[in-house]
Amino acid sequence: MSSDRAAPLRRQLAAVWARSDQLFDLVAPTDLHARPIALRHPLVFYIGHLPAFTWNQVARGALGRGPHDAELDALFARGIDPADARAAAAQSIDTWPALSRILRYRDSVRAAVDALVEPLLDHHVPGDPLLHHGRVLHVAIEHEQMHHETLLYMLQQCPELLRRPPEADLVSSRGHVPPALPPVEVPRGPVSLGVAPGELPFHWDNEAPRSTHTVDAFSIDALPITHGQLADFVAAGGYRDDRWWTGPWRPVAPSAWVDTPSGPQVRWLFGTAGFEDACHWPAQVSLAEARAYARWAGGRLPTELELHRAAYTAPDGSDRPFPWGPQPPTAHRTTADFHTWSPRPVGQTPAGASAWGVHELVGNGWEWTDTEWAARPGFVAELPTYPGYSADFFDGDHFVVFGGSWATAAGLLRRSFRNWYQPRYPHVFSSFRVVRTGPLSQAPAPPAGR
Ligand code: AVJ
Ligand code: FE
Repeated sequence: MSSDRAAPLRRQLAAVWARSDQLFDLVAPTDLHARPIALRHPLVFYIGHLPAFTWNQVARGALGRGPHDAELDALFARGIDPADARAAAAQSIDTWPALSRILRYRDSVRAAVDALVEPLLDHHVPGDPLLHHGRVLHVAIEHEQMHHETLLYMLQQCPELLRRPPEADLVSSRGHVPPALPPVEVPRGPVSLGVAPGELPFHWDNEAPRSTHTVDAFSIDALPITHGQLADFVAAGGYRDDRWWTGPWRPVAPSAWVDTPSGPQVRWLFGTAGFEDACHWPAQVSLAEARAYARWAGGRLPTELELHRAAYTAPDGSDRPFPWGPQPPTAHRTTADFHTWSPRPVGQTPAGASAWGVHELVGNGWEWTDTEWAARPGFVAELPTYPGYSADFFDGDHFVVFGGSWATAAGLLRRSFRNWYQPRYPHVFSSFRVVRTGPLSQAPAPPAGR
């Protein structure tokens, strides 16, 4: 029966909408006009953006329907990603519609889209990538899931506005000693990136095509760099030492740290964590900071291909869907999909290690790469309703991040999924690890961890 066919997608939509409501509910309605990140719109924009995007893609874009509310469809159509505060001010909007109107719009779009699931499944247009068994619904679902994480890293900038649910606690580093794992040597060999046509029910434009590459030998940290290790860099004067920094943008201290009279604390969603609690979490940093640390440590950041090779290939030449194999991303293997409300101390998911013995490549924080966000050969901006999804950011000022964080939905952990941010962006749940090229014996000893 056709209603049975629609049920899984309707359930997915309902789950995603429930998560959106749960996350916006963390903020009191009177605080929704806060703008925690100057380079983004205020929080209230996102309440309207999610339904507007969904309507514009699903009903207007794919099915050719009319406006839902022409004014709100347009006002909330797109977020902003300006390069600096001046550009942000120029794109700033001072007056937003009343919250009650935005919420009515949201609910009415949801009801209308829910009713479109069945017709969409019947609406198959050969050659149209969106009208293929309801594929455009995945555009809406995954867009909303990405915004869950975006919203959370914005909220981490204004924890004083949050109403913390009683069960929402951080995972403390206290009493935990990360395993002392030596860097892992990965020999020269092949790796493939991306998806082949028809391989997945849905993927974004930048995930295609599939391509195969050879990666030279490298060694890579078995675990991400932690706040404790970052503290060694700070203590060595790293943030004041010109040798490690390039480019004009340079923070004076780790951007996720908050100075207090009793020493540094570390930002997490609901406030600042004492250093004892956070010291073994992956260090949340900007790309600029990650590069500086890696230089100080005698190495560099990995490329996207190196991380793929460390994560998804095996010494016997086989390939894996996840670093740990084919099993789903449960809390036993990774830290993602809202298993927790914070990162976990590194080293707690040995069952999630890759075939080479590199831990936590997917989950417990995205990882910065030094690979510029750019079109891979054969890239096609194939979404007729959203040609700029990836291509708008092929500007030399965005870099690939790899993996996923505690706030990344399970479906987005697939190996072809790719994410990208500006090098100066310190808000993302993104850490890094250090790569060295050539035999380990010739590389400088890595600084001691804490
Ligand atoms: C893919 C996460 C970089 O947040 O800017 C949301 C996703 N695009 N709405 C972003 C996105 C449009 C995008 N990232
Ligand atoms: Fe968006």
